Amino acid sequence: MAEPRDSYGRCLLTKALVDRHYEIFLDCHPEIHRFFDGTDVAKYKRMLRCMHTALLLFADGDELARQNLRRVARKHSSWELDVPEELYEFWLTSLIDAVRECDPEFSPEVEKAWHEVARKGIDFFTAVAREIEDGG
Ligand code: HEM
Repeated sequence: MAEPRDSYGRCLLTKALVDRHYEIFLDCHPEIHRFFDGTDVAKYKRMLRCMHTALLLFADGDELARQNLRRVARKHSSWELDVPEELYEFWLTSLIDAVRECDPEFSPEVEKAWHEVARKGIDFFTAVAREIEDGG
């Protein structure tokens, strides 16, 4: 079984993961750009890096990562940014595409391992955002 943490380590060595995730994400759907008008990109990228770590930790049951994902999901809900739920999937696919570019040992097994980890976190994220939409 491929270890996403090993893959993440290899990606960090290239120092390109966050930049590529951001670039691929913004280009992968015409609706996404407009949300980032006025965003402090350097700050956003720092948060993105924390989010990659949070996804890995969340998959291992880490409580702080869970709280972090909950806070960020709340920010994306109608409470603040009002991001449509169908766009969340693009964040995940663009992360995997960025890993594909940055991990020199990328393989179908590595892809599957990343999918499993990211899926858990993003499903939780989406559920929290939906709960808020529903007034929960
Ligand atoms: C489920 C997948 C997603 C994750 C895990 C995620 C993660 C994050 C994180 C960690 C932040 C920084 C939060 C903070 O400031 O504390 C953020 C901010 C933001 N995200 Fe997302 N995001 C996701 C999906 C999306 C989508 C689909 C969009 C737009 C279509 C989007 C647009 C934004 C915007 C506009 C900000 C605020 C940037 C600013 O502060 O100006 N995100 N996101």
